[in-house]
Amino acid sequence: MDFAQLPAPSKVSAWLDMDALDHNIELVNQKTQAVKLRIATKSIRSIDVLRYIQKKTPHFIGLMSYSAAESLYLLQNGFDNILCAYPTLDTQSVVETLKYTQQGATMIWMADRIEHLRLLDEIGEEHGQKIEVCLDINMSMPLPKLYFGTKRSALMRKSDVKKLMEKAGGLSHINLDAVMGYEAQIAGLAEHIPGKSLLTPAIKVLKTGSKKQVSRRRASIVRWITEQWYQLKLVNGGGSGSMDFTSCQPEVTEITVGSAYYKPAYFDYMESMQPFLPAAGFVLPVTRQPEKGVVTCQGGGFIASGAVSADKAPVVHYPKGLSLLPDEGFGEVQTPFSVDNEVIKQGNMPRIGEAVWCRHAKAGELAEHFNELVCYRDNAPVIADGTAQVMTTYRGQGQCFH
Ligand SMILES: Cc1ncc(COP(=O)(O)O)c(C=O)c1O
Repeated sequence: MDFAQLPAPSKVSAWLDMDALDHNIELVNQKTQAVKLRIATKSIRSIDVLRYIQKKTPHFIGLMSYSAAESLYLLQNGFDNILCAYPTLDTQSVVETLKYTQQGATMIWMADRIEHLRLLDEIGEEHGQKIEVCLDINMSMPLPKLYFGTKRSALMRKSDVKKLMEKAGGLSHINLDAVMGYEAQIAGLAEHIPGKSLLTPAIKVLKTGSKKQVSRRRASIVRWITEQWYQLKLVNGGGSGSMDFTSCQPEVTEITVGSAYYKPAYFDYMESMQPFLPAAGFVLPVTRQPEKGVVTCQGGGFIASGAVSADKAPVVHYPKGLSLLPDEGFGEVQTPFSVDNEVIKQGNMPRIGEAVWCRHAKAGELAEHFNELVCYRDNAPVIADGTAQVMTTYRGQGQCFH
């Protein structure tokens, strides 16, 4: 997009570059065509955008949701084949999904402990229905002094899975016939984190070692379950940063992708994401100029989740030559930027009423701050899909999921 040409919104709002989104959808499709594709809803958080991507994805198989209440909402909105990726204790929402599965919808819940399985089994028994369950295999690489990966699932070794399967033997209202092995340390960790360039070679070496381990562990657990227990309906793996790797792993039947569609700022620091284009962000109007080389915008404090560090802050996308003030950062309701001398000399000092286009560090979290994404194509607001120039977010539909 030529941001200089775009009509500047007068209020803080979110933007979606439809040309960039189309480019990213096409690229995801090329990279993942060997397997089925599941969209990570947490990285989109908009029914409109999910439908848009689904329509353009021939090997789309379903959604990966992030909470039970959200899964129910997706079923209510006509989606099918939902894999809820994180174990839930929200009995009420699980029960409410049963009327959809009774009518033939597929809804799969995640588990890695007997408590998760017992809860689902009790619900199944009470409602006279079998509940579909997926086992989450921990793909992290524990080293003597470093844990390379995420601490989520208790199932890392075959023996962990075996123990759980044995304990689950008496549970007659669950179908345990899916496996997820998400290699977060490959798919979601950037190599070039700002201010931490000394870590780059170590992260690359660790990623290479971890890929070998992931291939071995996921394949051998899948083989073992298939031989000892039963045929699996699906083996899910991967994320945006591991598309090339995960899509060619023989044991994987489907990959999950979310962040690649918006390509938020954190993914700029990841080598595998370079061909993707920034497609979403927010715009802050310049409302003040406290001194010669500084402009202050309204809004801005949309910091991403994760370990607290500079790479969780938004970045300025346009215009160039604006830097954050380290003592203030992206503020709660106002954000000052210092303007490069060169920019001032060229007479390009941003004026009151002009827009500063920014990008969030993470994908779906952007949508938590705005009711709608204003769509642009060919340097103008555009009717994206249907009748509106906006795509409504979960928040815009009054929804809030955790
Ligand atoms: C279980 C799981 N699968 C896949 C992903 C990949 O999502 P994305 O493509 O948005 O990075 C994530 C992200 O955290 C995840 O938790």
